[in-house]
Amino acid sequence: MSTKKNVRRVVLVGTGFVGMSFAYSLLNQGGAEELVLVDLDKNKAEGEAMDLNHGLAFAPRKMRIWAGDYSDCGDADIVVITAGAAQAPGETRLDLCAKNTKIMRSIVEQIMASGFDGIFVVASNPVDIMTYVTQKVSGLPASRVIGSGTTLDTARLRFMIGDHLNVDPRNVHGYIMAEHGDSSFVPWTHTYVGTKPILEIVDEREDLDLGQLQTIYENVRDAAYAIIERKKATYYGIGMALTRVVRAILNDEHSILTVSALLEGQYGCEGAYIGTPAVITRDGIQEVVELDLNAVDQAKMTKSFTTLKATIEASTDPYLD
Ligand SMILES: NC(=O)c1ccc[n+]([C@@H]2O[C@H](COP(=O)([O-])OP(=O)(O)OC[C@H]3O[C@@H](n4cnc5c(N)ncnc54)[C@H](O)[C@@H]3O)[C@@H](O)[C@H]2O)c1
Repeated sequence: MSTKKNVRRVVLVGTGFVGMSFAYSLLNQGGAEELVLVDLDKNKAEGEAMDLNHGLAFAPRKMRIWAGDYSDCGDADIVVITAGAAQAPGETRLDLCAKNTKIMRSIVEQIMASGFDGIFVVASNPVDIMTYVTQKVSGLPASRVIGSGTTLDTARLRFMIGDHLNVDPRNVHGYIMAEHGDSSFVPWTHTYVGTKPILEIVDEREDLDLGQLQTIYENVRDAAYAIIERKKATYYGIGMALTRVVRAILNDEHSILTVSALLEGQYGCEGAYIGTPAVITRDGIQEVVELDLNAVDQAKMTKSFTTLKATIEASTDPYLD
């Protein structure tokens, strides 16, 4: 983390729905002394900075907020990237991936030109691949380039299990792992309510069975589609998930969060980013937590990783040379 000054600066690139939900959440929770908003649409960034500043009188602590540019990244501790194009009608996922790779490359090059030497937190989709692009283009150690990964998916899982069992989601312990997308999975043998394994609860209770667990997983997996159908975009949940990751870094929390991390042999996978539990500190990813997956879950992890790698080879690597 930057030692250039004793104030903590977060720069947000992309002041759309996701970026501003993060900014609003960070302002309400506190944690950074400075927040800089950067967007292609400078007017929008300026309006957003004005609007947030007008809430300062009600915030837990002082925060300097302004609309800036890439030169502000030089002194930043963290740059959060939520910029990117959405999928256009008729556009394939591969097309979108190629388009966002080019956008991300140009953003990261401008950030690095400022002398930035902090930690990246990426949420732009497809997030596992955009985090890979950020690491490749920045050349920073992989431990300092973190994707939001399955932090949001994991929060959705905890909410839905808690809701089903009428238990506080903070007492539900489990993870959604792998791609932030259709090939994600839940290692149910590593899922607990309080300290009780959820599979024991399935054995004991009438109101929970394996079919219902599968339905809960499918509802988590399809949550973004369900929300987008109703309100066109999802943003509050991811805004709070990003705040959680940023605060874990700024406060050196050593928290375990399901971020997108570069695998270097863990789970038998190597060379791409994917959602996995990892310990988050002021230096970024201290370590990937490698769960002892059973054969079925290991096969899901391998499949998800292979899919991500194939997409990177087809529609990302060609734009990185
Ligand atoms: N990781 C997750 O869990 C998660 C969840 C929801 C959304 N997302 C993703 O977050 C991203 C943003 O979503 P949104 O709803 O906020 O979209 P949005 O369209 O509201 O905002 C995108 C912003 O990026 C800006 N932008 C585009 N190109 C830019 C560039 N080259 N430089 C600087 N700014 C640029 C736009 O001007 C806009 O303000 C999308 O990729 C979306 O898929 C991720």
